[in-house]
Amino acid sequence: MDQDDNQLQFDAQGNLRHLLSLQGIDRSLLTEILNDAESYLTEPGAPPARGTSLAGRTVGNLFFEPSTRTRASFDLAGRRLGADVLNLDVNTSSRKKGESILDTIYTLEAMHVDVMVVRDASDGVPAYIARNVKDHVSVLNAGESDVSHPTQGLLDVLTIRQHNPDFANMAVAIVGDIQHSRVATSASQALQTLGVGELRLISPPALAPDAERFPGARIVDNIAAGLKDADVVIALRIQRERIGNLDGVPGIDEYFSNFGVSTENMKHAKPNAIVMHPGPMNRGIEIEGALADGPRSVITQQVTNGVAVRMAVLKRIGKRMSGQ
Ligand code: CP
Repeated sequence: MDQDDNQLQFDAQGNLRHLLSLQGIDRSLLTEILNDAESYLTEPGAPPARGTSLAGRTVGNLFFEPSTRTRASFDLAGRRLGADVLNLDVNTSSRKKGESILDTIYTLEAMHVDVMVVRDASDGVPAYIARNVKDHVSVLNAGESDVSHPTQGLLDVLTIRQHNPDFANMAVAIVGDIQHSRVATSASQALQTLGVGELRLISPPALAPDAERFPGARIVDNIAAGLKDADVVIALRIQRERIGNLDGVPGIDEYFSNFGVSTENMKHAKPNAIVMHPGPMNRGIEIEGALADGPRSVITQQVTNGVAVRMAVLKRIGKRMSGQ
């Protein structure tokens, strides 16, 4: 994201208007969002937290790529804050008939949709929409190509903070298809903003990232070295939908053995290290099923935190809209 796009996230008073990337979200704002999210968490079995920050507003979920967690949690988060939520069915929307993304947006604006939650396979779409909406409308990036997934980064660092708030003395290892992962980018940006001690990115060479995208991270192609004494291990799926040619990517058995997050490979990490995965998981490829379901896994906690983080972001956007 360039400097102009970064500035686009804030209004003239410096308030967050659009959430396009975690780049440019400073430590103080990031911490405020995490604290707000934490205030929305309730005990399992208790009714979910609710609020009125979006009463009278309409949130439009525009997912031009598949989603379970992000779409469902934005839907719940919007409703729990009092908004009407419109889930556009992309498979039957007029974009399939050739309508441009901006014509779709202008159509929804005319129906008083105030918040556009956008997932798209192409780079730059959330910022492009943000540049073209009316002044009162906000745009939230719900997953942009391989570029960024800011609310996922927020929920990831919230989950880590719940287990260990000492980011400065922490080693975080992200394992898998780093090259095509928007999750890795946003989690890394949030971790660097919070002053993480060490960030390691582990992948086969064919899926290794461009180092410039991850300033301060160590790129490793050996899982034993990468997981050594790690406090947090984040497993990532191979993003087959973004890979034209799988040449050089190991077959499933070799991949699982060399790059799968498994009970065996976790022996290299600290004994109390937590295991994370943004979902959707491919069990037996990037993560062992028993480990994903076991006591070290915080994967369902990530999902719970996803609703809370999206409520925290929507609350901030709603308050700005109401001039609070
Ligand atoms: N983590 C994540 O973005 O999951 P979904 O694709 O299900 O939204």
